[in-house]
Amino acid sequence: MALPPRFLEELRDKVPLSTVIGRKVKLTRRGHEYTGLCPFHHEKTPSFTINDAKGFYHCFGCGAHGDIIKYLMDAEKMPFMEAVEHLAGMAGMKVPESSPAQLAQEKRRGDLTAIMEEACRFFQTQLFSMGGERGKNYLIRRGISGQVAKQFRLGYAPSGSALTAHFQAKGFDIKECMNLGLVVRNAKTGRLHDYFYDRVIFPILDRRKRVIGFGGRMMEKGEPKYLNSPETALFHKGEQLYALPNAIETIRQKNEVILVEGYMDVIALHSAGFTNAVAPLGTALTEQQIKILWQSCDEPLICFDGDGAGRKASVRALNRALPILTPGKSLRFVFLPDPFDPDDMIRKKSPEAFAQLIKEARSFADVLWDTLTVAHPVDTPERMAKFEKDVRDTVALIQDTTVRGYYQKDFKDRLWKLTHGSKKGRVRLAGRRILPIHSPTPGLAEARMLLAYVLCYPQAAEPFIEDIATTRLPDKILNDALQEMAALILDMPEITSETVINSIQPDIMHLLSAEIEMLKRSDRETGEVSREIGRMLQQSRIQAIQTEIAQETERYLANPDPEVWENIKALKKEIEKLSESE
Ligand code: UTP
Ligand code: MN
Repeated sequence: MALPPRFLEELRDKVPLSTVIGRKVKLTRRGHEYTGLCPFHHEKTPSFTINDAKGFYHCFGCGAHGDIIKYLMDAEKMPFMEAVEHLAGMAGMKVPESSPAQLAQEKRRGDLTAIMEEACRFFQTQLFSMGGERGKNYLIRRGISGQVAKQFRLGYAPSGSALTAHFQAKGFDIKECMNLGLVVRNAKTGRLHDYFYDRVIFPILDRRKRVIGFGGRMMEKGEPKYLNSPETALFHKGEQLYALPNAIETIRQKNEVILVEGYMDVIALHSAGFTNAVAPLGTALTEQQIKILWQSCDEPLICFDGDGAGRKASVRALNRALPILTPGKSLRFVFLPDPFDPDDMIRKKSPEAFAQLIKEARSFADVLWDTLTVAHPVDTPERMAKFEKDVRDTVALIQDTTVRGYYQKDFKDRLWKLTHGSKKGRVRLAGRRILPIHSPTPGLAEARMLLAYVLCYPQAAEPFIEDIATTRLPDKILNDALQEMAALILDMPEITSETVINSIQPDIMHLLSAEIEMLKRSDRETGEVSREIGRMLQQSRIQAIQTEIAQETERYLANPDPEVWENIKALKKEIEKLSESE
């Protein structure tokens, strides 16, 4: 029976050769390839190699060579059709019967692909022609080189209906152009015109590098900023990832993929050498997209924008992946400083700053735990019970029994630590909202020193982070900087000094250069700095209370209200307590 070649290609794409061979042969990854002992001849040192990207195996010892189907036929003695069915089963695909209708469908697909390819070339040509100046200037403004524009096949859709005219002149089937969302009919005038006009064009390619859709960006402010091809016979947004064909090689090689939100983020990352970046297509991440990522890498990195929307999208991705976690397959999360997106990080900070954030990616379990604790204060028995129940219900969503078992164990440990930990720790997890009554208010010199400490030793500041977050500094710039740093440390307790420095306004560094210089020279230990920070905060808190006592005393002298007197007494006690614990 004749199988459509596309089907076999898809099978080879969907089932990695290493997965099938790995069932029989112990494989070791070596760069692009896997090696192991050849299943076709007897040997003691491995000369058998597998290249998943290229889809073939080769033995340097006995010369055995072939693709996944040949492997199953030769090594597992399956007849051709059985091998195909076996693979289809693994890929969750149905073996097509090539009826005349199916063959006709294949042909149509070919025709549609040809139209999309023609449109892509048209847009590319426009970008580099006289009429494309606007698009070209826009890309230059965004720091995209000509080489990168070519690599991503970027283009420009001119105003007017140039593409429609082009299709008509070349005798393309206009109905099909309409089905592909390239040409539309104006309901009022009945006239045909282009769907994309005066936009920079980002072609979307499938795994075989066939053009299946386009995204088009407006160059000025306006709505919608990005216009995407509608769903068509070729284009299913939830099943595709932007730039996957550009990135797949690096993804496999590094066993790492960086998933970002937008087209421009992908392009900025690739330009800066992060050639394993891909993006969903303007919609929330789907289960299918997660599974596609898992085919070529174990723990995709989710790196959405640092703003509120990006964080919410991260949580949505987490919830989408939770039920379908399987042994070894997970996600990790990179959080960018608000409101940066990866493109901003690369251009306004540096590729190194971005690489550092990638290194600090947080595990699925940590982020999941955070989403649970943030929503629940656990400061009373009832609330603890509710929290425990919610944790249990959440973990129960994991379908894979082994993964679920480990989550149960891990979260049980965390729960134990939480409920048996210090009161301070509990309050802290209770939404991190509880403010001390008397915010410390250090003087200017101490304020600068405190800031320098936090900047150079975020780890030392971490135990006092609530106090720091509520500290009021006597200068707006310093105060804003401190708040920003406190927020960063709250978000990422393991944060390094480099990351803090990369994430804050650069002029702060300048402002504090004397203090930082001094700290660098004295090279202190984290513990020592930590004690110093604690002492400073305490001192300034005592000062804040003393100021309040002075004000209250004045009030009392003017009008001897017994309540004010009680308050003064309480404040004095507070000072005593604070001084004692020193
Ligand atoms: P962003 O607005 O974050 O895009 O939307 P961006 O990549 O940072 O864009 P620039 O830097 O302003 O050029 C993220 C993604 O959401 C989709 C696009 O895929 C975009 O890349 N989107 C956004 C749309 O589909 N339509 C829109 O109107 C806006
Ligand atoms: Mn952007």
